Amino acid sequence: MNEKKIYLILGASSDIGSELVKDLNDTEKEAVMICHYRSQCEKLAEINLKNGNQIDFIQADLSLQDEVHALIDYVKRQYNSPVYIVHLPANKFEYTKLKTFSWETLQRDMEIQVHALIEIMKAFLPHMLKRDCMTKVVIMLSAYTMGNPPKYMMNYIVTKYALLGLMKSLAIDYAGKNIRINGISPSMMETKFLDNVDERIVQLNAYNSVGKRNAQVSDIVPAIRFLLSDASNYLHGTNLNVTNGNIIS
Ligand SMILES: NC(=O)c1ccc[n+]([C@@H]2O[C@H](COP(=O)([O-])OP(=O)(O)OC[C@H]3O[C@@H](n4cnc5c(N)ncnc54)[C@H](OP(=O)(O)O)[C@@H]3O)[C@@H](O)[C@H]2O)c1
Repeated sequence: MNEKKIYLILGASSDIGSELVKDLNDTEKEAVMICHYRSQCEKLAEINLKNGNQIDFIQADLSLQDEVHALIDYVKRQYNSPVYIVHLPANKFEYTKLKTFSWETLQRDMEIQVHALIEIMKAFLPHMLKRDCMTKVVIMLSAYTMGNPPKYMMNYIVTKYALLGLMKSLAIDYAGKNIRINGISPSMMETKFLDNVDERIVQLNAYNSVGKRNAQVSDIVPAIRFLLSDASNYLHGTNLNVTNGNIIS
């Protein structure tokens, strides 16, 4: 039986998420893209659907458990479970130093990135395992989970390492089943995520990078598509390095 391609894209409203949805729409047929957003879905709403593809929008603040569970209930009711999950959301990046550390801020990052994903996996993973096809989970990590991280990013680094731990523990628990769970770790991408970073730091990072440039979303989307495709069926529990050779791990 051919299973319908149902994508749940958490943080579809991110710059990377919108490019991914456009790419899926260009290449998939009769796929359903359940696009989660928190505050803005205008970019996604402008996409001209092709090839019988459908978009279903779902709004949720993933720092709030009620909203995480409302999202889960909606997806369960409409689709039973997704076939593919892509996890992209993150709180806007802020520098953190120990002397100004706030547990509440870290907890919010952990709610959005880690706790929300645990609840979503708990709800859908058993149903995904019952599907008659290979199912996939792609978790957005960061190049900072490889090699030395930069200074003053405590909240971000702690949260991404927690997410890396979650990816690895889910991968080991479900190895050998019809699910592939992998992470992806890009280097600095020029997106609205960097709005709070001084433009000079972004440009300096580009200058110091291989090829003298930062990543663009178009560099990263193909790697996400690879992890969602059958071409990566023998990859499970990996943290894919997408850094143009800036980190050789
Ligand atoms: N940009 C980089 O340099 C870089 C490098 C490596 C990894 N990453 C990772 O890539 C992912 C996407 O980032 P991006 O650069 O494309 O950033 P972005 O455009 O700023 O996207 C952030 C996403 O997180 C969502 N979000 C924020 N707070 C939320 C909340 N409380 N509840 C639910 N969703 C929330 C946003 O939703 P709304 O827009 O709808 O509010 C948006 O979809 C993140 O996980 C980030 O850590 C980024």
